[in-house]
Amino acid sequence: MNSSFTRRNFFKGAMIGAGIAAIGSHAAEKVPVIQGFDETDAGNVSKDAWKPVSDRKIKVGIAGFGVCQFGAQFGFQNHPNVEVVAATDLFPDRCAELAKRVGAKKTYASCEEMFEKDKEIEAVFIATDAPSHARLCIAGLKRGLHMATAVPAVFGDDQLELADELLATVKKTGLTYAMFETSSYHADNYAMHQIYKAGGFGKLIYSEGEYYHYGNPTKGLGSYKNWRHGLPPQWYPTHSNAYYTCVTLGSFISVSCMGMPSIQERRMPKNNAYKNPYGSEIALFRTNEGGMSRMNVCWDMPGTGGEQGRIYGQKASFVGRYSGKVDVTKVNVAKPPLPPGMPAGAHGGSEGYLADDFINAILLKRKPRVDVACALNTTVPGIIAHQSAMKDGETLKIPQYQV
Ligand SMILES: NC(=O)c1ccc[n+]([C@@H]2O[C@H](COP(=O)([O-])OP(=O)(O)OC[C@H]3O[C@@H](n4cnc5c(N)ncnc54)[C@H](O)[C@@H]3O)[C@@H](O)[C@H]2O)c1
Repeated sequence: MNSSFTRRNFFKGAMIGAGIAAIGSHAAEKVPVIQGFDETDAGNVSKDAWKPVSDRKIKVGIAGFGVCQFGAQFGFQNHPNVEVVAATDLFPDRCAELAKRVGAKKTYASCEEMFEKDKEIEAVFIATDAPSHARLCIAGLKRGLHMATAVPAVFGDDQLELADELLATVKKTGLTYAMFETSSYHADNYAMHQIYKAGGFGKLIYSEGEYYHYGNPTKGLGSYKNWRHGLPPQWYPTHSNAYYTCVTLGSFISVSCMGMPSIQERRMPKNNAYKNPYGSEIALFRTNEGGMSRMNVCWDMPGTGGEQGRIYGQKASFVGRYSGKVDVTKVNVAKPPLPPGMPAGAHGGSEGYLADDFINAILLKRKPRVDVACALNTTVPGIIAHQSAMKDGETLKIPQYQV
């Protein structure tokens, strides 16, 4: 167990019930218990011994150590095929703490400076604020780097063009791009995906996902330049949408979404930069298989929490467990073994898997679990869903992304 886990467990005891209290700029000193960070059960994991695929060490740079301290969270520093060589955050104290936690010898004042000056890095993990992900990933790819990013891939209406640019840049460079959608390595989501690929569900008639995360009515979780304040819920749609897109690797083609004006102060349009009135948005998507998905992102419903989903196919369903008449006993639904010393991490024991998958994708030149097409087909539908909600549920078409 590494020190971050010990620290989290300590604060879990000390701060549970405080919910998602905002913290000051010295992130390393006070860590609030944030929903998802205490969920470290990896679920069904293979008992096989881990086998190295290469003895190469990829030189990794990490950007971002904000409220969630996400730069240190995914265990790159524990992976035998990784050497974390550089760290960056715009705040010098956060940058220093990140470098300490991940063992990086070099630090940079910004990610842009790291791209420009560092001659060693081969891959970078972007754990900065959500609005900066797409821009930094495109810049990194253009600089010849493999890129992994925290969710979402793109942010809001203004970045729909960046979605096209991101896809084109990944295609043009041939480099690895992965979005670290934590739901994709929840044990159930992973198993659903394996069984789906083996034909165990047929087409999905219906799927449903929820990202419920109740926030303090007046003072939410902090964020760089306040990007979280009053955020339209469906601009953060990946944890719920993953219960279709990361299962089938398919897409949503149209959406009708509704919201109900929130009674929380910061979610009133006059009180946030997005002019967003909603704290909860319920989207009904048409899938590319011709089925239906109901995906909820709800932040102002007291007593709710969790990132979860269920799927119902033409041959079988998965509601907590597989249930159908197809024999799927030969499908390997267990998550693969992680390298010794590599923690599965939080968010349903998904974090270590996402880092491991990204590194293996580079080493083996294969697709990551959530590649650029899946990332955009998981993220962009939420942006269109919010547009629909602002038009009281008008059905809108969703752009499609393919590699
Ligand atoms: N389950 C999940 O997948 C999950 C959970 C929590 C957070 N996240 C994501 O992780 C990311 C980080 O979350 P957070 O709460 O720590 O964000 P935050 O807004 O608190 O912090 C962002 C940090 O990035 C730094 N930064 C911004 N631009 C930079 C640049 N150009 N160069 C270097 N550093 C830069 C800022 O200084 C800041 O410290 C977010 O995108 C969030 O959506 C995902």
